Amino acid sequence: MTAASNPINLFEYEQLAKTHLSKMAFDYYSSGAWDEITLRDNQAAFERVKLRPRMLVDVSQISLNTTILGQSLEFPLLIAPMAFQCLAHPDGELATAMAAASAGVGMVLSTMSTKSLEAVADIGAKFPHALQWFQLYIHKDRGLTRALVERAYAAGYKALCLTVDAPVLGQRERDRRNEFALPPGLHLANLADISGLDIPYEQGESGLFTYFAQQLDPSLTWRDLEWLQSLSPLPLVLKGILREDDAVRAVEYGAKAIVVSNHGGRQLDGAIASLDALAEIVTAVDGQVEVLLDGGIRRGTDILKALAIGAKAVLIGRPVLWGLALAGQAGVSHLISLLQDELEVAMSLSGVAQLQDIDSTLVIGDRKKYN
Ligand code: FNR
Ligand code: LAC
Repeated sequence: MTAASNPINLFEYEQLAKTHLSKMAFDYYSSGAWDEITLRDNQAAFERVKLRPRMLVDVSQISLNTTILGQSLEFPLLIAPMAFQCLAHPDGELATAMAAASAGVGMVLSTMSTKSLEAVADIGAKFPHALQWFQLYIHKDRGLTRALVERAYAAGYKALCLTVDAPVLGQRERDRRNEFALPPGLHLANLADISGLDIPYEQGESGLFTYFAQQLDPSLTWRDLEWLQSLSPLPLVLKGILREDDAVRAVEYGAKAIVVSNHGGRQLDGAIASLDALAEIVTAVDGQVEVLLDGGIRRGTDILKALAIGAKAVLIGRPVLWGLALAGQAGVSHLISLLQDELEVAMSLSGVAQLQDIDSTLVIGDRKKYN
């Protein structure tokens, strides 16, 4: 078989997906902000880190099980929150949820989903231990935000993942050129019914950029986290932290986990690659909260490198959309299994049989930085 029918890695998924998606959808999914420097650097950062494999270790039994916020995962992977998954496949977020739960990996559902948070939670409920978190964008309308949090809690989500790197939307110029808007029939499934909110069409602009400017609250600060935490007992995860001082503040303000992330290079172009920001954050939080990472994960070796530098787990974004575009749930399931297999082989070749054996000596670089 050829790549045309049978992709064998996440890069082939991307090539094939391009031919399955409208230009507007592919550009929206693949874009980064401005010159896409950070987008490229997220992957380049993984290439800069080199492994120091150990030899003559018994790797006949590889174990990938872990826990995140006390919940078990088959391997240390979550699917990152991503808006508008029905642009890739009619089943959208439902297919992603099914693939994630079947594989025993986590899923974070975006506020901007095209299937309702309740419908996605219903899929999680079919599995004994599905790890589903709800990603929150705080709207200027605090009543609306409160309603979202209460619905996420009632539906059974296990954490609130507040994205902190988007007081305004990053400028993705391809979206601006395409005048990005949702095609007929697609809506903000969590918002349109209760508030009438939807992505506006705007000449010469990305409708999503305009939506953020009009609806999201750019005045949000650390002080609002107390209010947010008063709305539900859900643990708070902060997504989009890139500096050690912010990581320390996240701990002080009660976050239970941090996602080191630059939003896949879609927000501040020129921001540090996620992997480059990881070491100082791991050191700064000193085990008080779990540290996750996303941005540029495309291979099992990338996961291994992130774990060696101190991440407890990683999230993948765009490849999931490529899987959805090609084959819906089956595509997402397949690419999760590709990553899992690659991680197993990478661990075997590195002389680590279980995740606990992965430490900073496995990567080369500034030792002080990685310890
Ligand atoms: C995103 N991301 C994102 N993040 C978030 O907190 N809420 C959201 O609604 C979205 N939406 C979204 C849409 C699309 C199309 C993409 C590609 C990304 C960012 C996402 O959660 C994650 O941080 C990055 O995608 C990770 O980088 P990779 O794996 O795509 O390189
Ligand atoms: C994005 C927003 C929705 O990155 O987070 O497109």
